[in-house]
Amino acid sequence: MRVLVTGGGSDIGRSIVRRRLSLGDEVFVTASSEESLAETLARYKAEGLEPRGLVLDLSAPAVSEPALAPVLAGGLQGLVLNAWTRRPPLHRFHELPQEALEADVQANLMGNLWLLRRVLPSMVEARYGRIVFISSVSTVNGTGRYGAYVLCKSALEGLVRNLAVDYGALNILSNTVRLGIYKTTRTKKYWSRPNYVERMGGVIPQGTLGEPEHVGEVLDPLLSAHQYINGAVLDVTGGLPMFRMEGVLRP
Ligand SMILES: NC(=O)c1ccc[n+]([C@@H]2O[C@H](COP(=O)([O-])OP(=O)(O)OC[C@H]3O[C@@H](n4cnc5c(N)ncnc54)[C@H](OP(=O)(O)O)[C@@H]3O)[C@@H](O)[C@H]2O)c1
Repeated sequence: MRVLVTGGGSDIGRSIVRRRLSLGDEVFVTASSEESLAETLARYKAEGLEPRGLVLDLSAPAVSEPALAPVLAGGLQGLVLNAWTRRPPLHRFHELPQEALEADVQANLMGNLWLLRRVLPSMVEARYGRIVFISSVSTVNGTGRYGAYVLCKSALEGLVRNLAVDYGALNILSNTVRLGIYKTTRTKKYWSRPNYVERMGGVIPQGTLGEPEHVGEVLDPLLSAHQYINGAVLDVTGGLPMFRMEGVLRP
């Protein structure tokens, strides 16, 4: 299949891309700038992998129209919405500056909506599509000072359910994958502290933080041609939002 994975340079994105390439897919990745795209493709090349790439800045997605159009014209069977802006400084919601809130909504919500509305017509025409949204367990249990993040993830989860209803009969199947707490570059400042890893491991039912490599394979059934999964949410969280009392009760 031809599949577009946004945020193909992130650790989670790389796990998905590696898996899809290993299955023989033609993979397109996005990066937020020309510089990042060159870096991303070079990193893949160093691994002997050659996805194709395009720039897609979620804050100004329409600029990417000329790069996206030929990808869609060639047919796109899969879309994985993985890109997300890096977190701004954490604020409680009323302290989050209005401009920061609007920028977050503009990029993460409106940017992803733009891409979906651009991709869906070609899937409708082909009467085939597989859409996967990478979300977070934060939409269930909240995360301190993550208001804008949870707002946009939750809104997109809602939309994905509605896409499942609107487009399922056209064999365009839309699902959400909710991730828990992962050891990615973005979260390194937390998991590089042994105390954090130990305490989180005490809370997470599976006893350990997620590794990016846990994600790629999980998308197999959601991207597969022969399946009956539509509008589902798959938690890839090691058991969160359930938690072990050990991590809470420890002195
Ligand atoms: N890490 C976790 O523990 C965790 C937990 C739950 C859910 N998730 C979700 O998993 C996904 C990947 O997470 P991650 O930690 O691997 O991500 P990350 O390291 O923060 O990487 C973010 C990705 O999004 C892209 N991006 C950032 N700003 C963008 C913009 N304005 N326009 C287009 N692309 C942009 C980046 O591309 P460039 O590098 O090209 O800028 C990068 O590929 C995200 O959706 C995240 O919410 C992660």
